Amino acid sequence: MSSQYTSQEALKEVDALAAKQQSIYVYEAPVRLWHWVNALAMTVLAVTGYFIAEPLPSTAGEASENYLMGWMRYIHFSAGYVLAIGFLGRIYWAFVGNKHARQIFVLPVWDKDWWKEIVFEAKWYLFLERDPKKYVGHNPLAHLAMFGVFVTGTILMILTGFALYAEGAGQDSLHYALFGWVIVLFGDSMQVHTWHHIGMWVLIIFVMIHVYAAIREDIMSRQTMISTIVNGLRSYKDDRP
Ligand code: HEM
Ligand code: HEM
Repeated sequence: MSSQYTSQEALKEVDALAAKQQSIYVYEAPVRLWHWVNALAMTVLAVTGYFIAEPLPSTAGEASENYLMGWMRYIHFSAGYVLAIGFLGRIYWAFVGNKHARQIFVLPVWDKDWWKEIVFEAKWYLFLERDPKKYVGHNPLAHLAMFGVFVTGTILMILTGFALYAEGAGQDSLHYALFGWVIVLFGDSMQVHTWHHIGMWVLIIFVMIHVYAAIREDIMSRQTMISTIVNGLRSYKDDRP
């Protein structure tokens, strides 16, 4: 007698379900690789940046044997280069990759339905809607956050970060020739430090909401999320019966 618990029976059921399952290739390998390199670089930058702003009051041993803050700054600047070069690569991929590679850089502000769906998504996130909409790329609210917070925030961090680096490198450095104007634009060095610091907290809040939303949507919206940014494929689950 067969039961639903034998592998033969289970296979039949799984095959029937798998036949119905549709997947779409959304995030190409360079986008996925960049996502995780960027996430790591930002984490390292936030930790070392925090300590550059709030240095440890003391370290053990002879002062001449310590280079703790020197290492913090060295790792910060190296991760800063990884972030900046990665971001340039990501912009390049927006030109040569698929249409989803362009999404975070362009907002369809002229599209009325897009704005309506932002309101819908906000209500869905606030548990005020019962039936989630399905998307191939980012949903309109995520799209707005990716552009308005992540892309603009990252550009701010790169410009202000390299301007601060230029200050240390000196006025006759290449860094200063390329980024000295940022200090003039912000007024003075203190302003650049302050905006670089505020930018960190804005990005930290973005990441906290982003990770919460990714996990929540993976569970609740009946379409894959976390596996999509790992293997590139978005799969859709059946609607609730
Ligand atoms: C510093 C940390 C992180 C940053 C700055 C970040 C930023 C981003 C950005 C900018 C995108 C858009 C990718 C694109 O379209 O090019 C994205 C997508 C995504 N991220 Fe992250 N991410 C971070 C960490 C994480 C973590 C830890 C997770 C896992 C829980 C995650 C899950 C996702 C998912 C699922 C997507 C795709 C969303 C979708 O399918 O619409 N991220 N992330
Ligand atoms: C997500 C990206 C980044 C975060 C979260 C971050 C965070 C921080 C923070 C919190 C500070 C201390 C600011 C203050 O209160 O004075 C700092 C300083 C600094 N950051 Fe960044 N940063 C980022 C990107 C970069 C980049 C791309 C560079 C370019 C190389 C950079 C270079 C610097 C420099 C030169 C300083 C000043 C170091 C000093 O005064 O000793 N940062 N960063």
